[in-house]
Amino acid sequence: MSLSSKDLLGIKGMTVDEIKLILDTAATFKDVSEREIKKVPTLRGKTVINLFYEASTRTRTSFELAGKRLSADVINISPSSSSVVKGETLLDTARNIEAMKSDIIIIRHSCSGAPEFLSTRLKSSVINAGDGFHEHPTQALLDMFTIREKLGRLDNITVAIVGDIMHSRVARSNIYGLTTMGAEVRVCGPATMIPAGIEKLGARVYYDMDEAVKGADVVMMLRLQLERQAAGLFPGVREYAGLYGLNRTRLDRAEKKVVVMHPGPVNRGVEIASDVADNQSVILDQVTNGVAVRMAVMFLLSGGAKAEA
Ligand code: CP
Repeated sequence: MSLSSKDLLGIKGMTVDEIKLILDTAATFKDVSEREIKKVPTLRGKTVINLFYEASTRTRTSFELAGKRLSADVINISPSSSSVVKGETLLDTARNIEAMKSDIIIIRHSCSGAPEFLSTRLKSSVINAGDGFHEHPTQALLDMFTIREKLGRLDNITVAIVGDIMHSRVARSNIYGLTTMGAEVRVCGPATMIPAGIEKLGARVYYDMDEAVKGADVVMMLRLQLERQAAGLFPGVREYAGLYGLNRTRLDRAEKKVVVMHPGPVNRGVEIASDVADNQSVILDQVTNGVAVRMAVMFLLSGGAKAEA
């Protein structure tokens, strides 16, 4: 079995079998990062371009490591040190990169739809590393990989996603992926941060965090995008932390073996208490698993056809 598209633009529309294929393939790649020589020749001769128009620590580094561990040539391009500052368009930049025979272009952009725009105009595989408020598919895949690793399954579990759902591409991709895999998804946050119609994606809406967390197998906290305070979407950080911050007392309402997640970067003491983040979360496991998942995605988009590496 292989992926049906040359690109990975989002989780929406992916089948159970496609998601399983990526997760199973990632499981075979996870071991590579544990070895003394963290390299396999799988993508030798392939060229991977990291084109990040927005800041990133985890995703950009993880894609770079994933490409290098597969023996691809990986180049990082940041707009601030490229001809973008001279006014070059996104499409011209991408076409010039492709003229140098790229095989995979990984793009993060503040505009929703930028990866899809490129994918229809390029021969290279395009991977969405986060576009606006739209999707962050590899984040959802690494989140699903981590949940499956911790709980042994993705179906018949309850996942509470808490925070700024409105502006979260991580939430959207996870809702698509987790509901496809048979999980019950709850979303919770202030009314100003819950987009109208989100329940049509299959999520149940909660405004009370204690209720949302009750009996949950997974609690996924989202970063409070502090820039939203200027837009008046919440009155203050302290009030937000009191109503929607994850602390030990609140966590006691969840299942005993609850998996606590956060995609990063974390605002300590705001959306999650430091002791929960440090002692009771799988945040760093998510980061570790991100490399394996991105290796799997690049392998499969390059023609890899089964869950064996
Ligand atoms: N989770 C995530 O996308 O983190 P970065 O913004 O650091 O890539």
